[in-house]
Amino acid sequence: MSVGPRKRVAALISGRGSNMISLMAAARQPDYPAEIALVLSNKLDAPGLVTARDAGIATAALSHKDHASREDFERAMHAVLEEHAIDLVCLAGFMRLLTPWFVGQWQGRMLNIHPALLPSFRGLHTHERALEDGVKIHGATVHFVVPDMDAGPIIAQAAVPVVDGDTPATLAARVLAQEHVIYPLALKLVASGATRIDGNRVLTGEQVSDHLLVVPTPA
Ligand code: GRF
Repeated sequence: MSVGPRKRVAALISGRGSNMISLMAAARQPDYPAEIALVLSNKLDAPGLVTARDAGIATAALSHKDHASREDFERAMHAVLEEHAIDLVCLAGFMRLLTPWFVGQWQGRMLNIHPALLPSFRGLHTHERALEDGVKIHGATVHFVVPDMDAGPIIAQAAVPVVDGDTPATLAARVLAQEHVIYPLALKLVASGATRIDGNRVLTGEQVSDHLLVVPTPA
């Protein structure tokens, strides 16, 4: 599937980095079309930085607090991404809103994972809100980043059931397990050149099952 050299990917994190770990694991496969070339955090003490370093991956930590404005911070981040010759950016629990300037630099080359079936439940506390609203199906979405938060052409989604007795924590765990499946899958589609953006749609030329996962109700 991969054409040409593997794409150099930066994972941007703020915390534990479990999605970053799922991308690192996928990228260990020899035929995977991307490598995780850099892990960059805006939190100097993000646990994911230690995990990445232990795996021999280059890391960088830039605190947004050391910069006068959001855009100053982003210009510093952008310089680091350029130093590492990054092709694609994967936001993986990166808890900073991005300016239109930064998004413009990476438009069509920056992915995000959101713990809900977009366009439902943009923003924070998605699992609490899904339970409050009584939805029966919840999930996760990988999408290209556009200036609006938690919007942009959708690359892959996973749907999971909401069951009696769910708490935000049990639902989050069910969703997170699927995040770890669809993020590597979406990055593979993008890095291999299989995706084409047509308005709000991402066309992949793949089977439906390659970018949509429906997880059955647990027994
Ligand atoms: C995930 O739920 C992701 O969907 C959201 O932030 C969380 C990050 O978790 N954007 P992790 O750091 O990848 O474990």
